[in-house]
Amino acid sequence: MIAAIDFGLTNTDIAYAPAAGEAPRTIFITSEHKVDGHAFAHALRATGHSPADFTRVAITGGQHRRLPDAIGVADVIKVNEVEAIGKGGLALSNLDEALVVSAGSGTACVAARRGAFAHATGSAVGGGTFVGLAKLLLGVADPQAIDVLARAGDANAVDTTLIEAVGGQIGKLPADANAVNFGKIERMGTLPRREDIAAGLARMIGQTIAVIAINAARAEGLDKVVFIGRLMELGSVRQTILDVARFYAMTDRFVLPPKPGFGTVIGAFSML
Ligand SMILES: Nc1ncnc2c1ncn2[C@@H]1O[C@H](COP(=O)(O)OP(=O)(O)O)[C@@H](O)[C@H]1O
Ligand SMILES: [Mg+2]
Repeated sequence: MIAAIDFGLTNTDIAYAPAAGEAPRTIFITSEHKVDGHAFAHALRATGHSPADFTRVAITGGQHRRLPDAIGVADVIKVNEVEAIGKGGLALSNLDEALVVSAGSGTACVAARRGAFAHATGSAVGGGTFVGLAKLLLGVADPQAIDVLARAGDANAVDTTLIEAVGGQIGKLPADANAVNFGKIERMGTLPRREDIAAGLARMIGQTIAVIAINAARAEGLDKVVFIGRLMELGSVRQTILDVARFYAMTDRFVLPPKPGFGTVIGAFSML
């Protein structure tokens, strides 16, 4: 058996197959605090196979560099995370080049061109911010539960809209686009609905990521923008990112591939 493991801050992703060239199966587990031999074996066991069955294992993410070059019977191949993100994004989208945005716990933008992968920019705003702020404001820390709330809410109940701010549209932005995330709260006498707070959070985080991505794609001269990472599994955030694409006439340039949560580990697996 061969496998790739992406040791993320939140989740550890595993892709595995009997041999290279075969389509891998994918699973994910909650990350442990430390990336060590124990976490390595734990990830492999989560596949249902014994760690002793694995002869080659590619690892990326987190502090993967701290692991040795061989563990038990397995050769350990260390894959630079920037390369894993880039390759994974291109593989999931079937593109030759793109700006690949990894929206995980944090956000990284990788300029991916045939054989050349470079970190372009990023943001400390990401999925971890979404969960962290939702826990503080709503007492809910389960990403799916926050997403359910967000999809039932209206972000314009907490955001100041352009029509309220300047009386109409600006540039390509329609009048009902938002001008200030959570801008209504300052002068609000009552507390907003929980659903509306969640919707405001999803929009603030999704917009931040999408706007950074558009500017990075422009700066890098890349036509397509591919979004991977498990934050992209949440419908509320996906919708926000598609809304930004519409505002900036980027709809045909944004690619939201299936299985975004496994993008990075699939990129690492492709190195085997
Ligand atoms: N089932 C899930 N479990 C955990 N996080 C999830 C889940 N679905 C969506 N998310 C979001 O994905 C983020 C983590 O993304 P991921 O790509 O796994 O990041 P990392 O590689 O940093 O661990 C979380 O912060 C959360 O916002
Ligand atoms: Mg990851």
